[in-house]
Amino acid sequence: MSLLITGGTGYIGSHTVVELLQLTDGNIEQDIVIVDNLSNSSTKVLERITQITDKTVTFIEADIRDESALERIFTQHTIEAVIHFAGLKAVGESNEIPLAYYDNNVSGTVTLLQVMKKHQVKKLVFSSSATVYGDNESPLHEGMTTSATNPYGQTKLMVENILFDVAKSDADWSIACLRYFNPIGAHQSGLIGESPNGIPNNLLPYVSQVAVGRLKELQVFGDDYNTIDGTGVRDYIHVIDLALGHVKALQNLEAIKGCKAINLGTGNGTSVLEIVNNFSEISGVSIPYKVVPRRAGDLATVYADASLANELLAWKTQYSITDMIADTWRWQSKNPNGYN
Ligand code: NAD
Ligand code: UD1
Repeated sequence: MSLLITGGTGYIGSHTVVELLQLTDGNIEQDIVIVDNLSNSSTKVLERITQITDKTVTFIEADIRDESALERIFTQHTIEAVIHFAGLKAVGESNEIPLAYYDNNVSGTVTLLQVMKKHQVKKLVFSSSATVYGDNESPLHEGMTTSATNPYGQTKLMVENILFDVAKSDADWSIACLRYFNPIGAHQSGLIGESPNGIPNNLLPYVSQVAVGRLKELQVFGDDYNTIDGTGVRDYIHVIDLALGHVKALQNLEAIKGCKAINLGTGNGTSVLEIVNNFSEISGVSIPYKVVPRRAGDLATVYADASLANELLAWKTQYSITDMIADTWRWQSKNPNGYN
């Protein structure tokens, strides 16, 4: 039996593959097949995964929109379940090239689902995002109404709705839509981590590139929010905790009949300045920053009600903000240019 991981050479995918390969409880003992078009990742990740785990995976360079490529994968391997990470994820870019986002994220997922259905593979874990909560007030819980404010968010919402419909149409499907909060950190080995192309959009990669001298200073987007110090508050989650959430979701898929949306967050919020100060302290490097106006579309405070994941999956986070920052710094300082 094999597990298919789409987007498995990416940031969250690679960490999840490592945790799956290192499982010791014998609950999931499948071969891992990764399909990725390498649009935002590198095959160097595969060597690093083997360095950490001493195990290998099957890697297929292909696009999930390529139905015949997927058809070959499902014919050549006995796929039991799929974890679907593949997708484009930059909010700003999605406003500029929305069609590429709808094509990649929505059409790509529909193609994947069609091939899965044809091969009677009806177990799926999907990478959704807290962005589907729109401007609801935190703590955000799964029963709230959903909405989106940009094409990226729309694609996540559309795919969630497609998945709910698919599960409604056929009781054999078991689908977990995992709504991630803000994943940061890296594997403790410092061998894999986040390696964004170009100038990072997200806070942690930006701060860590300032710390290694690749970028001059951080721009803090607003200090006049109604928060502890006026800067935006988010629910940062260690990528290893997130990866373990996928392992738990997979192990509990049988029990999830139909399609369930589940938050993966810590339930705690941290401000931009708290991150900056912690990062300086842990790395011993000062992080120059300048306060600039708010970024359009940003909310003051976003954090999860993480109780459903605890109830349904017996999952809760283990790592603190200090761990997240120390692991980000280890990865960034050992690999100042990421995988390049
Ligand atoms: P990532 O870009 O590092 O990984 C995505 C991987 O998918 C990359 O390796 C990329 O090459 C691959 N890919 C993209 N389109 C593909 C296609 N059409 N066919 C095959 N492979 C393709 O991103 P990530 O941070 O690991 O995110 C993984 C998933 O989680 C994405 O769906 C993203 O939207 C979602 N998500 C991420 C975050 C975050 O902050 N990182 C937050 C919420 C949700
Ligand atoms: C962003 C996306 C969201 C996506 C999430 C995870 C937007 C509007 N939202 O959320 O859809 O799901 O990433 O990838 O882009 N900040 C700075 N300076 C920076 C970068 C960020 O001050 O250079 C602040 C932001 O204003 C925010 C916090 O840091 O308060 C976190 O920002 P970011 O890492 O971009 O994540 P989100 O805004 O939560």
